[in-house]
This record gives sequence, structure tokens and C-alpha cells, in this order.
Amino acid sequence: MAVKTIEWRDDSVRMIDQRLLPQREVVRIYKDYRGVAEAIRSMVIRGAPAIGVAAAMGVALGLRGYSGARAERRFDQVARVLRATRPTAVNLAWALERMQRVFASHRELDADRLFRRLRNEALAIAREDVAANRAIGSHGAGLLESPATVLTHCNAGALATAGYGTALGVIRAARARGKKVRVVADETRPFLQGARLTAWEMRKERIPVTVIADNMAATVLRAGAISCVIVGADRIAANGDVANKIGTYPLAVLAQRHNVPFFVAAPLSTIDFDCADGAAIPIEERSPTELTRFFGKPITPEGVEIFNPAFDVTPAELVSAIITERGIARPPYRDALAQLRTAGGVATNAV
Ligand code: MRU
Repeated sequence: MAVKTIEWRDDSVRMIDQRLLPQREVVRIYKDYRGVAEAIRSMVIRGAPAIGVAAAMGVALGLRGYSGARAERRFDQVARVLRATRPTAVNLAWALERMQRVFASHRELDADRLFRRLRNEALAIAREDVAANRAIGSHGAGLLESPATVLTHCNAGALATAGYGTALGVIRAARARGKKVRVVADETRPFLQGARLTAWEMRKERIPVTVIADNMAATVLRAGAISCVIVGADRIAANGDVANKIGTYPLAVLAQRHNVPFFVAAPLSTIDFDCADGAAIPIEERSPTELTRFFGKPITPEGVEIFNPAFDVTPAELVSAIITERGIARPPYRDALAQLRTAGGVATNAV
């Protein structure tokens, strides 16, 4: 990808403003953690792994110039502000906890060294994310026949990660192996991640993509036009229930109805082993204006009641497989995911 989603340069954090794509490619530069927090909250950057990387970089920015007891207090404050930005994607909390562990074991360092150590950890999180996505791609590519048409929802691509993507990473890897893969992208109301971001990424790499409105998925599935559905995830519970962008659950129901495999592609950092099942996953509700306005213009009657959950939970029983960097988990997920976590290798029920 020519465009970098997030980058650390000259001790500042750069992000492409995803709110403006595909019309404008604007890079924002943040020098303090509050700016990074606001960028996550307002969706300048979005996607579970990408906001984890952003939060880690935000911590490094926030601790710059701090040492000793001041650094302790500062860390708590910075982590609290970053953690409060978006509740559903567990990658954010995961990245903050990783930064906390590094901080705890280096708190005796002087301010300069502490800053460099935290910055290096944030950069490692970003590098590891790209490596994980490439491994997810490589495992997932084997699931696709050729030719294949993949239906996806939201954006689980390079823009949602530090690079390469999870669901779109599988498509990239399959194409790199010479498979003929095309994409059908749900537009993904109300933020339009599919129509704006997935379509933009695919066009940039000349991967054939067709955008449909969310309510057209049943029609393309019934027509037999889809080989499989592949989506990303914001948090996967220990039993395999999957929280992802609102509109994912109906796709899974439709896929089952039409006998089409429903795959979830996500790194292990998205699996919350402390979360027993989907009922325990916090679901973010976003501003009513995402629904009452369309590109700044009001589209609903003034004062109408709005419900705007940003994510839904797909029950594990509708998920055909979960593609991770360590292999492919198949049901029953509680055992398969736990095995991937501890084995550090491919699960015994991996394909
Ligand atoms: O609200 P968003 O755009 O942050 O939601 C993003 C998604 O739901 C993605 O599918 C998910 O984070 C996986 S990204 C690899």
C-alpha cells in the first residue's frame, strides 16, 4: 500500500484521516496523546488493530519528558484517557496493558530512556501486527478456491491495521498465490467503511470490487454469487462469539441460510480470553448524528429517537472458522482458541 495508515515519524504520530477518504488523502500529525485519543474517538483512525497501535503510540507521546513518581501518575492519566475512547475493540486495552507491563519493568529509567523504550514497544506492536496479518493471509488463502467471490463487511484491510489487513489480507494473499479473487463490499452504514475504505483499498491495488448497499446482501447470496464471507473482528469471546461492525450478524445468518462459509479473520490480540461469551462484550453506541445526517445534511425528522450501536455479536455457531496468525480454529472454539493461545502454533483442528 502506498498510503500508510499510521506511522511514527520525527517523534510524532501520523495518520491518514479516514473520515475524508476516498475523496481526500489528508495526513494528520499528532504530537501529544490527547490528540491521538481524539483521533481514535472521532475515527480519524479506526479498526481494532489500528486503534491498538495508535493507543500504544499515544502512550509513548504522553510519557515523553516524564520519569520517577511523575511518570507513574502520568501513565495512569494517559492510559485512562486513551482507554475511554472506544470500548468494544479489545486490541486497544490489550495494547495499553502491554505498554503498562513495559512501563512497570522500566520505571527506574531516566525520562529520555523511558520514552525511547516505550516508543520502541509501540513500534514493535505495529511491526508484529503486520507480521500477524501476513500470517493470517497465508493461512486463510488456502480456504479460497479460484475463482472466488468474497463478500466482506466494513473495512478489515490495511486501513484497519498497521498494514496488509486481516479479512482483506486473506484476499491479498490468495491473489499473490495467483488465485482469481474478487470482492463484494457491503457499504456498511452509517460510517460507510465498505463503500469508502474497502473499495478505495481494493481499487488502489486493482483488485476487482463491487459495492452493494447492506440490504442487498441477501439477494447476492441467494443468486449464488458468493463463495464465502470473510470479516474482521473487534473482540472474540473465549467461546468464539464475535463482535464486529454492526451488520455482521445478519450477514452470518444469511450465509448459513444459503450454505455459504462464514469466516472471521483476526489476530490473537483480538481474542478476549477473559470474556466468557458475547453477552459480556461492551458494545459502543455512537452519536445519533451518524444516522440523522448524511454528509452534513439532515435526513430524519427533527427530534426523532435514534439507536446507533456500532457493533453486533455473531454467535459462534454461525462462524465456520476463525483464521488467526497461528492457524485456523474450527468449532468447538473454546478448545480450539485456547489451544492456539498456549501452543504458540497451529491448533490440532486447524486445516
Ligand atoms: O468502527 P470501526 O470502523 O472501528 O469498526 C471496525 C470493524 O468493525 C472491523 O471489522 C474490525 O475492527 C476488524 S479490523 C481488522
